[in-house]
Amino acid sequence: MARLQQAIDEAQEAGYVGKNILGSGFDLEIHAVFGAGAYICGEETALLESLEGRKGYPRLKPPFRRTPAGLFKQPTAVNNVETLANMPVIVNIARRVQPHRAGPEERRTRLYAVSGHVKKPGVYEAPMGISFKALLDEYCGGMRDGATLKGIIPGGASSAVMTAAEADWASDFDTLKAKKTMAGSGAVVYLDQSVNMAHALANLMKFFAHESCGQCTPCREGTAWLSRLLDKIVAVKARSKTWTTSTRSRGRWR
Ligand SMILES: Cc1cc2nc3c(=O)[nH]c(=O)nc-3n(C[C@H](O)[C@H](O)[C@H](O)COP(=O)(O)O)c2cc1C
Ligand code: SF4
Repeated sequence: MARLQQAIDEAQEAGYVGKNILGSGFDLEIHAVFGAGAYICGEETALLESLEGRKGYPRLKPPFRRTPAGLFKQPTAVNNVETLANMPVIVNIARRVQPHRAGPEERRTRLYAVSGHVKKPGVYEAPMGISFKALLDEYCGGMRDGATLKGIIPGGASSAVMTAAEADWASDFDTLKAKKTMAGSGAVVYLDQSVNMAHALANLMKFFAHESCGQCTPCREGTAWLSRLLDKIVAVKARSKTWTTSTRSRGRWR
């Protein structure tokens, strides 16, 4: 936050932000606001609630985020910082590059926030659709010494985990959607052979249960149930049961 505010102050001093930017007659103010600190406050309408000083409960939709009645009932557009940062680049490229001269992959890049058991974790700008193997080898220096790739979380904690054999998949939105997972936020995690997948899943579920804002019953109760169940599996205290039509009608496990 301090760094962001410093950058805003520097931009203001240089005349890039504020009134009459670079003598153009165009005004733009930027205010950095501390959020409530909850995961759900990243969701666009919960963010607006939080900015208005209320609990970060997502609003009913529609209306969606590009709405005439958004923040304080004023016209509002909500966008990710990466989207906003890309806008000048897109405008400049559109001006300079003749679209027929560059293939779609050459024109599009994406920020991949890579963590896990790699040599060089970090945020990398790489061609959109780069394979997970190429992202690992060419940008992150490969897996740590002695580590073997076991699984990949391709787009944030709620995306379906990929196996090592699927590392040659392209990382673009359409491919991953067709493969029944998702490109999501671009937060990629490479996991090595030391990871107990049940433990990793239990850990993620604990996060989601903790971060449920509690507004909807299935999420508030269900994530907590799943978390407790996964803790039992990790502690080898779970028992295998079969869910049948008759048990469903009786509403209990057999
Ligand atoms: C639970 C949840 C958490 C989210 N957290 C973030 C977030 O931290 N940052 C973000 O930019 N978008 C987040 N989103 C997505 C936003 O609702 C919104 O779609 C996005 O910011 C729109 O920006 P874009 O069109 O520029 O990508 C979240 C969505 C959900 C459902
Ligand atoms: S309870 Fe869960 S699903 Fe419902 S709004 Fe909150 S975080 Fe989203």
